[in-house]
Amino acid sequence: MTILSMPGSSGMLDPLPTRRMSYFSNQYVLGLTVTAGIGGLLFGYDTGVISGALLYIRDDFKVVNENKFLQETIVSMALAGAMIGAAGGGWVNDAYGRKRATLLADVVFAIGSLVMCAAPDPYVLILGRLLVGLGVGIASVTAPVYIAEASPSEIRGGLVGMNVLMITGGQFLSYLVNLAFTEVSGTWRWMLGVAVVPAILQFILMLLLPESPRWLYLKNEKAKAVAVLAKIYDSDRLEEEIDQLAAASDDEVQSKKSVSYFDVFKSKEMRLAFFAGAGLQAFQQFTGINTVMYYSPTIVQMAGFSSNQLALLLSLIVAAMNAAGTIVGIFLIDRCGRRRLALTSLSGVIISLLILSGAFFLQSTRFCDAHTLHGNCGSSLGWFAVSGLALYIAFFSPGMGPVPWAVNSEIYPEAYRGVCGGMSATVNWVSNLIVAQTFLSVISVLGTSGTFLIIAGVAMVAFVFVVLFVPETKGLTFEQVEKLWREKAWGSDGSQQSLLAAEA
Ligand code: BGC
Repeated sequence: MTILSMPGSSGMLDPLPTRRMSYFSNQYVLGLTVTAGIGGLLFGYDTGVISGALLYIRDDFKVVNENKFLQETIVSMALAGAMIGAAGGGWVNDAYGRKRATLLADVVFAIGSLVMCAAPDPYVLILGRLLVGLGVGIASVTAPVYIAEASPSEIRGGLVGMNVLMITGGQFLSYLVNLAFTEVSGTWRWMLGVAVVPAILQFILMLLLPESPRWLYLKNEKAKAVAVLAKIYDSDRLEEEIDQLAAASDDEVQSKKSVSYFDVFKSKEMRLAFFAGAGLQAFQQFTGINTVMYYSPTIVQMAGFSSNQLALLLSLIVAAMNAAGTIVGIFLIDRCGRRRLALTSLSGVIISLLILSGAFFLQSTRFCDAHTLHGNCGSSLGWFAVSGLALYIAFFSPGMGPVPWAVNSEIYPEAYRGVCGGMSATVNWVSNLIVAQTFLSVISVLGTSGTFLIIAGVAMVAFVFVVLFVPETKGLTFEQVEKLWREKAWGSDGSQQSLLAAEA
């Protein structure tokens, strides 16, 4: 028997039997994870491919080429769709289940891809971007929750991390596609339309998979829930899991059959949980990952490398490192825990951003002209900046990449999991849009060095935020996580207090 202690909470948790599953020991769970993760692939591919596709869209539509606003709208309409999709998708998840939400995301995404592929003018293309964004938004909340609810608690973080691997893998794939098509014109229809294939594939595979067992249980479909759980656990463990589910549904005072967005703010424990989850999502974006993902070629050129090809190649390497780092995260998240991984990641991110800031500062002050006897100082500074970029990705990708998604898939009680996960995914998309839209303008006002310095400052605040507000949830069952929030909100006799609050 092992005792799981709960860092960040006041006491020890109930003893749990020694946990025994590994990522690959249950093919069923792995298959379910990969199928759900196609949602992550759509997310990554769509957010990555547009920068390359835009070059060819501009060739085909003169009006786009002449109008920056149209270009920005084509790019950001998908982000706007994703915000709406994530918020609405959270509700669909709770009301109609994870499976139906995934099917809906696929249908909307597939229609959007086909609309883009056939678009006769930029306005139809923008409509297609909106639809695809809606699909990505719904998928961004559904996939982590669906995976988490089918996962044994001891490997839950890594399995949700696989969805993030599909995101980063999708981005890598899209950069490859962008690079491959550099010489071909008019191919944007293929680049955007081809995403219909994984969407259809996921739709078909999902029809073969069951609804989430936890959602079924909450909706009183207990026999069906047990049948699904029986495919995941052996008989001893199955009994234990069912007992925990039953106990949770008995004493889950705040768990209603259906919840509204406002219910989230009515109870103290829900407010605390949502604050931690949404804060992590916001900090994931405000610590600058997408300045690197969307603008790495530009950053590389700012560092003094003028060749387009080299810039694109380096950005492909950045995307590959990001995907490789996510794999490291998958292996660490259930070993080191979410907090330690996030804090280590943030420490490295801070150092890398300071390096980037320093390199650009020296470049802007013409330090080289004054201090070198040889002419190669400028290029050393360029490499210094590129190393800062590489270091940033190496630290970000295993930690701040997967941790916010994993934590948000596991910290909310069953009845709120979709709604809260959806709201905090919306926070992620809104923050993403703010950063992507303002990064280049902020650089033109404050300079590259100053901008990276500010992002480093944000990362320091994020570090303090994680220390103060994000509890460790590694290995805990969903029921233990609920207890953790009750204790945080009401002290160690949390259940009693929250019962009184619910009755009042
Ligand atoms: C983030 C995305 C980001 C990606 C890059 C994800 O976890 O949510 O916004 O583009 O990581 O790796």
